Parts: sequence; structure tokens; C-alpha cells
Amino acid sequence: MSSNKNVFASKVGAILAAAGSAVGLGNVWRFPTETGANGGAAFILIYVLFMLVLGVPIMVTEFAIGRHGGKDVTHAFEKMSGGKRGWRWMGLVPVVSGFLVLSYYAVVAGWTLYYAYEALIGGFAGKTSEAFTNDFQTFSSDSLQPVFWMAIIIALTCGIVALGVQKGIERGAKIMMPLLFVFILVLVACSLSLPDAGKGLTFLFMPDFSKVTSSVILSAMGQAFFSLSVGLGCLCTYACYFRKDIDLMKDGLSVASIDTLVALLSGLIIFPAVYSISGLSPDAGPSLVFITLPNVFQQVFGNLPWLAYIFSLIFYLLLVMAALTSSISMLEMSAAYFHKNLRLSRPLAAIIVSVVCLILGTFCSWSFGDWSEVKVFGLNFFDLFDFLVAKLIMPIGGMLMCIFLGWVVDEKVLCAEMTNHGTIKSPLYPTYRFIIRYVAPLCIFLIFANELGLFNWS
Ligand code: PHE
Repeated sequence: MSSNKNVFASKVGAILAAAGSAVGLGNVWRFPTETGANGGAAFILIYVLFMLVLGVPIMVTEFAIGRHGGKDVTHAFEKMSGGKRGWRWMGLVPVVSGFLVLSYYAVVAGWTLYYAYEALIGGFAGKTSEAFTNDFQTFSSDSLQPVFWMAIIIALTCGIVALGVQKGIERGAKIMMPLLFVFILVLVACSLSLPDAGKGLTFLFMPDFSKVTSSVILSAMGQAFFSLSVGLGCLCTYACYFRKDIDLMKDGLSVASIDTLVALLSGLIIFPAVYSISGLSPDAGPSLVFITLPNVFQQVFGNLPWLAYIFSLIFYLLLVMAALTSSISMLEMSAAYFHKNLRLSRPLAAIIVSVVCLILGTFCSWSFGDWSEVKVFGLNFFDLFDFLVAKLIMPIGGMLMCIFLGWVVDEKVLCAEMTNHGTIKSPLYPTYRFIIRYVAPLCIFLIFANELGLFNWS
């Protein structure tokens, strides 16, 4: 075990922590929703392609910047640029994004915790589909209940971050990630044994390219970004704690493979289940996981209520854990800055960030109820934060990081980082460098321009 407490003690721990950040509601909630809305298998193929050609290189870029810098992300940019102080400002991106992303992510994470609790106390038993719809709407628009559950999520996240890199983040990932896998496999097995599961498989694996439009392509790219947590500097923050002997390229590929596998397995849980009841549609949108699925669990296991109970409980616990391993990385982005630069103790830094996120998160939660009409630039708080993070900061951040590493940083420094100072071979390095210099900035510019409506493709 490494004696330095600010470094992940093991290589596995580092991979699991980064994978924990990547695997989250983006895989189990957003991926099926996007796949459903964008026509299934063809979307998935394009998404996987983007993971490989864009997601992995940007992830590796974040790893290289973070690990080279060591102490924290602001110093990382300055050091890697060879002392150009202007680039230090890029290091503030994760600090600001950490607040924004956690504030709205924690709202949905809070919903998952409430649903896990409902599943535990048997609250779904015997409900009709109208009741599921009404209950979700009543719950999410309430001014206190969702805030209460969100507060628990933030408190748990804060507790883990306060414990530090090895005892908190690494240990949390080492416990939760394997459990998450076991849960997923149990659920996939149950789901595949349902009647008509084959229809769900066809939807997932038989591409129909006639459904591919430019907006499907762009959604697939956006999903790859969100799912891998790239562009905000979140993985830069974690990479500051990477050991010097970690093979960044190999790790990036491992994390992306785990992330993609979890997304596909989530599809294998959700779509066979949805197709096993006639009349339900795979494109039910964000409510898929909070209205359609609990309803499915009740209906398909109607005469085996204990199975419905177990299935629902495991499913929502899985969502809670996936959300937690990601929210930890979000809190760490901002807390690490206050801890390292303002010399606050780690627990104090974590508490300050948590309190601010709790306040901002409350505004986001009220966007579904009392404050639904409170708008900034035409968006309620929840949508505003999502817009800022996923549509603005992620693409711009990702693009700037590629430009930084591809054009500003001395090539020798980059090469040394990728080959661990010549001690390992990195056969993909030339391809990687080509991508970050040309392909990634151009692609990202295109998503960004389209998201902002600079041109209208579809
Ligand atoms: N990748 C995470 C998910 O899939 C979300 C996330 C985004 C985490 C940005 C950290 C930073 O849920």
C-alpha cells in the first residue's frame, strides 16, 4: 500500500474510482432513456463508436493533465503548460462545474433513494399504473420530501469525501463497484427470463439505420460525454491521485469498457422488462425508471409478489450506488480545490461545498413544483444547470483540454506522460495524438454548434 494518503493505493482502486465516477445515473437512467428515444440499436452502435474515438481520448487527456500536475487541477494546467499562468484558469472549470453538476444530479439521486426506501417497505405492492404516475408527480413536486432525500445523498457523499482519497473514495469504489456488478447480473438474468424478452433484445441489438438522423448522431455523442464524465475536469481531479506507474491509455480503455458494459447491461434489464408488458413503449422518456419500471415489476411478477419486491429493491439500490460513486467524484472536484488551495481541512472543505450544493439543489428540486415558473434564460433551475453542464461546459471543456494537450503542451511532456517516461510502450499514442489535435476539437465544435442551434441539421 502506498504511504501517501493523497494517492490511490492500488491500480485497481484507481480504475474502480474512475469507473465509479463514469458509471452512474447516466448509464442506468439516461442511457436507456436516450436509447429508447433514439430508436435503439443503431443509436447504440454510434454511441459505442463515439466512446472509442472521442470519449477514450478525452478521458486519457484528462488523466494525463491531472497526473502530470500532481497537487491539484489548477496547478496541473500551469505545470503542464510549462508555467504559462493563463492556463491556470482552466483549472477552475472543475471547481465551478462540481457545484453545478452535483446540485442537480443529487436531486435525481435523491429520487432513487426514496424509491429504494419505498421498495424496502413494500410500498409498490398492488399499485396500479395510474397510481405510479400520480405518486411520482406528487412526490417530485413536493417542496420538502425530495429535498429531504437529496440531503441524505449529499450527506453520504460528503461523509465519503471527508474520509479522504484512500479511506473514502477508493474504499467506497472498491465496495460499491463489485456489488453493483453483482446486482446488475442478477437483474439481467431475471429480466431475460421474462415472457417476450426477445423483443427487447431485438430493439437493443438489431440496428435499423433508417432511424439514424443527425440529431440521433449528436445525442449519441452527448451521451458518450456525459456517461464517461469527460469535459468537466472530473477525471483530471481523480488523476491527480494516480500513481506514476499507471498506464493511462490502458486505464482509459478499461474505464470506458466498464462504463459501456454497464450501460448495455442496463439496457438488458430495462428493455426486455418494458417489452414484456404489451402497450408499454420504450421511449417513455425520463419517467421510464420512476414510473414505467416499478409498474413493470408489479405487473410481470403479479403472482409472485416476493419476486417483485426483490427485483424492485435490488434495482433501486443499484441506482443509489451508481449515483453515489458519481456524486463522490462531483463533490471531490470542488472540495479538493478548497482543501488544497485555501488550506481548509478535507472534512471542512467537503461540508462547505455540500451546504452550497444543498441550497442550489433545493432550488433545482423546486423546479419540479413550486418554482416551476421561476426561469432564468427561459429555463427552470434544474434545466439551467443541466444545460450549463452537459451542453456548455462539457463540450467547451473537452475541446479546450484537447487543444491544450494537442497544441500548447510540449510534445515531449505529453509523450513522457503517455509512456511513463519511456518505461512502457504506448502503440496507440500516434493515433491518440492525431485525435486530440484534429478529430476531437472538430467533432466537439460540431456538437456544440448544433446544441446551441447555430445550424439546423435534422
Ligand atoms: N458519468 C456520470 C454518470 O454516468 C455523470 C457524471 C458527469 C459524473 C460528470 C461526474 C462528472 O452518471
